[in-house]
Amino acid sequence: MTRLRLDFPRRSPVWVLLPLRVFLGGTFAYAGLSKLLDTHYLDDTSPLGVHAQMVNAAATSPIGPLVSLAADHATVAGLAIAFGEIAVGLATLLGLFTRLAALGGVLLSLSFFLTVSWTTRPYYVGADIVFAFAWTPLLIAGDAGVLSLSARLRAKVRHGLGLPVHPTPEEDGTVQDDVERRTLLRSGLIAGAATAAGVTAGSVLALARRPAGSPADSVSHGPVIAAVDDVAVGSSKSFTMPDGKPAHLLRPAPDTFLAFNATCSHQGCPVSYVGPGFRCPCHGATYDENGQVTGGPAPAPLVKIPVKVVEGQVVLA
Ligand code: FES
Repeated sequence: MTRLRLDFPRRSPVWVLLPLRVFLGGTFAYAGLSKLLDTHYLDDTSPLGVHAQMVNAAATSPIGPLVSLAADHATVAGLAIAFGEIAVGLATLLGLFTRLAALGGVLLSLSFFLTVSWTTRPYYVGADIVFAFAWTPLLIAGDAGVLSLSARLRAKVRHGLGLPVHPTPEEDGTVQDDVERRTLLRSGLIAGAATAAGVTAGSVLALARRPAGSPADSVSHGPVIAAVDDVAVGSSKSFTMPDGKPAHLLRPAPDTFLAFNATCSHQGCPVSYVGPGFRCPCHGATYDENGQVTGGPAPAPLVKIPVKVVEGQVVLA
């Protein structure tokens, strides 16, 4: 019987970082894109926006003054974070300036760890410190020429100069310097053109999706949520906001109705009502019946939705 030989990493060690590279690159590109497509992200009036997250993080972060400064320019800072994540992610996936991209990944992850994840206890529950260290193999080893745009450009340059694909021991150092200079120039042109096009298109998209009015305006005359008699005292009812977001209606006392957007202020997972409060299934954030944070990594309370009772019906106020 033929024995299965598991010697793939020994024969092709340069491939071992590829899964990590694909995961980190894909995750950062996705995270940046999600921010640009989130209508709350650049909304300074939304508790889910980057401005509110920075203001909240500044209160507890060891780099609070820096975060406060960024909060004063939240739109620019928010766009820089989102584009930074996309640039790091795409460059990593493409194998273009991979070590530089990994350095960007480390710095972004550390900045998230020092701000939004700083109050997470125990520290290893937050993902950002793990991401910071996950980038270090790529920072040290780069892409090793595997599925690498930089490596392809270098090969093209060598081909154009009539050189063999790989440098020989006899090859002059000045020739290799020339190859690297030409490769760097081509890589820089591609990165520069992609950055200019991406930043322009992304900024227009993100700013266009920013709501024109305040959240209160958007729910000022909403529809009926539930009949008063349908919500028993001490219970809750899930409903959907006009914008499609999930929400919870609570009745803590006979004449008291409270409603909250179900979106967790940490990374946007839908929270569940686990009376007498809420719990997020993603990273364990907990909130009390007033939507205030009682535990976990959530940086801000749940968004409260104004409601009132009209003729036996609970409606959006
Ligand atoms: S999304 Fe992370 S705790 Fe809710």
